[in-house]
Amino acid sequence: MPRYCFVNGRYLAHRDGAVHIEDRGYQFADGVYEVIPVHQGRMIDATAHLNRLDYSLAELRIAAPMARRPLEIVIRQLIDRNGLTNGLVYMQVTRGVAPRDHKFPKHTDSALVITTKQTKPVAASLLAQGASVVTRPDIRWQRRDIKSISLLPNILAKQDATEQGAYEAWLVDEKGLVTEGSSTNAWIVTAGRDGKPVEIVTRPRSHDILGGITRQAVLALAKEQNLRLAERGFTVDEALAAEEAFLTSSSAFVLPVTRIDGKPVGSGKPGPLTQRLREIYLQYADHTE
Ligand code: PDD
Repeated sequence: MPRYCFVNGRYLAHRDGAVHIEDRGYQFADGVYEVIPVHQGRMIDATAHLNRLDYSLAELRIAAPMARRPLEIVIRQLIDRNGLTNGLVYMQVTRGVAPRDHKFPKHTDSALVITTKQTKPVAASLLAQGASVVTRPDIRWQRRDIKSISLLPNILAKQDATEQGAYEAWLVDEKGLVTEGSSTNAWIVTAGRDGKPVEIVTRPRSHDILGGITRQAVLALAKEQNLRLAERGFTVDEALAAEEAFLTSSSAFVLPVTRIDGKPVGSGKPGPLTQRLREIYLQYADHTE
């Protein structure tokens, strides 16, 4: 089946998709992106992803490349043309093409690229064993709530993780608190010992983290189940002493984390609450767009 992409108003064969050498995304990373998961042919939380795209654009004063409704139609078209059943829609918007100059160009249209990618489900062995993470200092800028295409610290951290045989890197701020993963949000389930209740913990939304759409859905679903939630920071030591840990993202959904820097979390096996949240999220994904 031919694969298409959408570049500045045109559907093109994927291999022919290209941007100008003076695109500000290419030259300055002056742009933002979104990743929308597609599950059984339907997008998960498309509206929330497009709202976050609008937010990222507004924060950087980049004009929206298209109105919402036509944009939704283009995305749907691309999913259908590419026969995408399970995978990701990737969208990138930059401030456009202009002679290289740091300040904003005056009369430039935003540039838009959309691609899709079929992905395999998370391997059964990874789900059964859980993921390992390594910790790294969070050396990113102070506006991580904006989904900027400038991802050098993220890719360096992920590369470190990969070279250590780990799935993800958890980034730690100057106070010793975990912010998030290089491309995922980070969670723990605290031990309910000494009369303390079990609590699902993740860092609150702020400029310090990307407000994950999967994170938001999992919080809402956990609340519906009357599970105890706490949006606060946690240290690596607290994560190691936790009963369970997991991560969330558009590509991994809910994935157990069983080792941090080579040490086991809880029993070292995926925890029951994490497994339950993954199942609940998958049921939700079956019925949403
Ligand atoms: N990453 N934190 C960061 C830094 C991310 O890049 C992502 C998403 C998340 C999870 O957000 P969401 O649940 O909305 O996917 C958290 C995407 C998938 C990526 O960069 O490919």
